[in-house]
Amino acid sequence: MSAAAGGGWEGRRFEVTVGPVAHGGHCVARHEGRVVFVRHTLPGERVVVEVTEDRHAGFCRADAVEVLEAAPQRVERPCPYSGPGKCGGCDWQHVSHAGQLELKAAVVREQLSRLAGLEVPVTVEALPGGPLRWRSRARFALDRAGDPGLRRHRSHDVVALDDCPITVEPAAQAVLGRRWLDAGAVDVAVDSAGVVTTATLDRRGRPQDVLVLRPGADVPEEPAGRAQRSAGGRDWEVEGTGFWQVHPAAADALVEAVSGFAAVQPGETVLDLYAGAGLFGGALAPGVGPGGRVVCVESDAAACAAADANLADLPQAEVWQGDVDAPGLTELLVDLGRPDVVVLDPPRAGAGKDVSRVIAGAAPRAVVYVACDPASLARDVAAFAAAGYRLADLRAYDCFPMTAHVECVALLVPA
Ligand SMILES: C[S@@+](CC[C@H](N)C(=O)[O-])C[C@H]1O[C@@H](n2cnc3c(N)ncnc32)[C@H](O)[C@@H]1O
Repeated sequence: MSAAAGGGWEGRRFEVTVGPVAHGGHCVARHEGRVVFVRHTLPGERVVVEVTEDRHAGFCRADAVEVLEAAPQRVERPCPYSGPGKCGGCDWQHVSHAGQLELKAAVVREQLSRLAGLEVPVTVEALPGGPLRWRSRARFALDRAGDPGLRRHRSHDVVALDDCPITVEPAAQAVLGRRWLDAGAVDVAVDSAGVVTTATLDRRGRPQDVLVLRPGADVPEEPAGRAQRSAGGRDWEVEGTGFWQVHPAAADALVEAVSGFAAVQPGETVLDLYAGAGLFGGALAPGVGPGGRVVCVESDAAACAAADANLADLPQAEVWQGDVDAPGLTELLVDLGRPDVVVLDPPRAGAGKDVSRVIAGAAPRAVVYVACDPASLARDVAAFAAAGYRLADLRAYDCFPMTAHVECVALLVPA
């Protein structure tokens, strides 16, 4: 949309009383009849804002640049790089951890109410370890000089960082405070054995060099195998910087929630959609026993290869490489027969209406939906409701402290 669609307020400063939190790491205020999405503030605060973006007729975006009346949950930011106009990696550095859990619960409640028409009590559970030094996998951008950092909020500018206090120390030390030449970004991940994998990407995002640094070693080397992770009482292999829950305690928490909601019985058939390295399928396979069946579906070839290795000791589990789009899923379900339980853990955009309708059409006794975006979850819960499924239970976890992200696990059952 062109700048002309906005009100020409960019750079303008004014006072507002801040209203409720909204999805995306900001709160809602109003000024001269317009909605203002304000970052770096909290509900109930009186602040001076500076408008940072004004491109839409209905709303503009602003940063709180001066706090006139602070909310009780406001704290000093632990990260020196965070604040108005600075690093855009975190949203809630200025909020106590307990306050962050309340904000995230309010966002999940609001999304379910607005997009699915449901009034649901929501509690967001903290994971062990506190709100700092939890990020075990990250992508850092590189500025033109090759200095690593993160982007300013809604900008391509890179804020160079010497440290990132939410990232685990070995990962931050491996990437930050040094110059990376001839690359556009660096991925880094630390596995449960403390091995640090770095993978550079070129300016178009294509993979370049992958190196691992073993604990106690001074010199990185070429990777000789996959990274090791543990969760749900099992060890898992994952591609070095490939998908795995970012918070070291998240995989365990999610496996516990998924297993509790799925409550699989011997002999049952389970479909694990968007299976990654087979985390949920592998955790549920022992429960269905040798007479049951677990089918993991995943599009990424490297993740499928890791899942094959991870599930090799579970003959009732198999890995199918393919896209979970509605036509492919319909064919799979015809081949498979009726699944008793479907677990799905789609990317941020959610599974979508078509996939949700096809899953509901297969009439599983339970659908366990793992969601990293409450808006996508709420839209898909509405699609399941239209197809005869109701939300029976919900757990939510703070897998991404200091940021606006929240992970939910929902149980849907026939209405
Ligand atoms: C949020 S991750 C979940 C992985 C796994 N459940 C876990 O917890 O480790 C989503 C996964 O879905 C895969 N994926 C994305 N789009 C897909 C699609 N259309 N069909 C199948 N898999 C897809 C991605 O490669 C990724 O591994």
